Amino acid sequence: MKKVTLSIHCAIILFLALLGACRTGQKAPDVRQSSGVYQYDNEKKQAVARRAGPYFSDRQAVVGRSGMVASAHPEASRVGVDILKAGGNAVDAAVAVQFALAVVYPGAGNIGGGGFMVYRDNTGQAYTLDYREKAPEKAHKDMYLDSAQNVIPRLSITGHLASGVPGSVDGMVEAHRRFGRLTWAQVLQPAIDLAEKGVALTEREALGLNRTRSSFLAVNPDKRYFMKADTTDWKAGELLIQKDLGQTLRRIQQQGRAGFYEGETARLLAAEMQRGGGIISEADLKNYHAVWRDPLVDTYRNYKIITMPPTSSGGVALLQLMKLVEPYPLRRWGWNSDSTVQVMIEAERRVYADRAKFLGDPDFVKVPVAQLIDRNYLQTRWADFNFARATDSRNVKGGNMPGYESLETTHFSVVDKDGNAVSITTTLNGGYGSRVVVGGAGFLMNNEMDDFSIKPGVPNMFGLIGNQANAIAPGKRMLSSMTPTIVEQDGKLYMVVGTPGGSTIITSVYQTILNVLDHGMTMQQSVNALKFHHQWLPDKTTFENGAFSDETIQKLQSRGYVLEQLTNSLGRMDCILRRPDGTLEGASDPRADNTSVGY
Ligand code: GLY
Repeated sequence: MKKVTLSIHCAIILFLALLGACRTGQKAPDVRQSSGVYQYDNEKKQAVARRAGPYFSDRQAVVGRSGMVASAHPEASRVGVDILKAGGNAVDAAVAVQFALAVVYPGAGNIGGGGFMVYRDNTGQAYTLDYREKAPEKAHKDMYLDSAQNVIPRLSITGHLASGVPGSVDGMVEAHRRFGRLTWAQVLQPAIDLAEKGVALTEREALGLNRTRSSFLAVNPDKRYFMKADTTDWKAGELLIQKDLGQTLRRIQQQGRAGFYEGETARLLAAEMQRGGGIISEADLKNYHAVWRDPLVDTYRNYKIITMPPTSSGGVALLQLMKLVEPYPLRRWGWNSDSTVQVMIEAERRVYADRAKFLGDPDFVKVPVAQLIDRNYLQTRWADFNFARATDSRNVKGGNMPGYESLETTHFSVVDKDGNAVSITTTLNGGYGSRVVVGGAGFLMNNEMDDFSIKPGVPNMFGLIGNQANAIAPGKRMLSSMTPTIVEQDGKLYMVVGTPGGSTIITSVYQTILNVLDHGMTMQQSVNALKFHHQWLPDKTTFENGAFSDETIQKLQSRGYVLEQLTNSLGRMDCILRRPDGTLEGASDPRADNTSVGY
């Protein structure tokens, strides 16, 4: 049945592609092809017959009357909805989902990583929680450079030195302490059950674990976590049982914060670091604390945008992008017309240049947030833009402002029956993080240190460049692009939005919101819609197959834009939209295992 549906799908896509070609009557323009941020998709080498946009697929939304959870895994979404049905609120459900994802989605769900939460309660009060990892006390600015000051390849990406001090457990403890309604034990139990009884692997997860096996063995030579006893390939449907992780979750369940940052788990983590030459100590763990920060709130036309402040660059960048294009008639120009795409790319070019210059941990550097999102400042950023020709990124620098002195992540959205909403993006950074599994504790450590600027001007794994503002320092949080966001309309909850995707998170969230606000798409259509990305450097626009019509491609190329068609996808959105009749539209991305569950 699945096969038949798939072939019908392929046939439809091929038909639409042919139709697109006939319609324009033109030869498809010659565009370069490249692979993007998702390793499994890269390796799958998907067919690249040109699609006729705007949608990746025709997936339909899930509709709920009372509550909705949209996440990267069907089991995690089910856990969240079970918690809502048991009388939990959106925060209870979000905590349960964060822990469930750490079990069922080891590629990005985590307790060994960090994240950001944007929470809007049903009175409209908004809160943001920063549980991003921190550099350990022994970290220093040049720790990934050799004696000649050259970057040592992969040291910030794979192995024990790549990890920051994890923040996810403290983040969940804090969120629950402040807003939870059910007991801590209740919200932890589903994850414990999944770890101890096992979770059936999806095809995607089985593939991911098989592909990562040699790397797991290289980094953990004396351990067999995430492998079958005979080290043969996992198949979809087989059970992944994680006894040690179950025990770690039980310690967290029984002791709260101390079950992770002190005692047995902390001892195991510090011992793991010593074994592999890492630097996270028991003291680093004990000293880690998540931080409540003032939400970043602004308007786009008559909508209110509530998003994440630094340590994420995502919220600042999203607001800059939206306000930069606000004066332009995107709806009249049309979705992904040459003019629409052009102003969006040019906004992205300028915003990512600002990101590299100004953004970093606000506890360490002064980030000029108010100036960066000021409409007068943003207006000055258009001074060198001309529709006739692409601006050259080499001539674009971070802006000037008076008085200023300096793929793998996962997102989930929850709305409960009272209208409280949570938007969380959480990460190990790369898929399966540093690949280090904490011996005896069974969880993966992040490789978030790569999100620092390990040397000024040297790109990180997402090609992002940074400077002093994001240099490594002990106890400092590395800059992030994660952009969990909530949109309000007329004082009421409207959308809960977010995605993984490294540097492409910001531009995927940006397009997903504009698709609804400016192009009249439903939430699911907007998630399904094909996407593109520009990040200042490298100076090129990558796009999903079919995101641009041949006409748009030809016009953009004639104006000097370098376009690169991806062989894989952009974004794995998990969003919820509250419709005018009060029902909830759960919109999960068809590009992976993402699933919405509502009731
Ligand atoms: N690790 C990806 C991000 O935080 O942007």
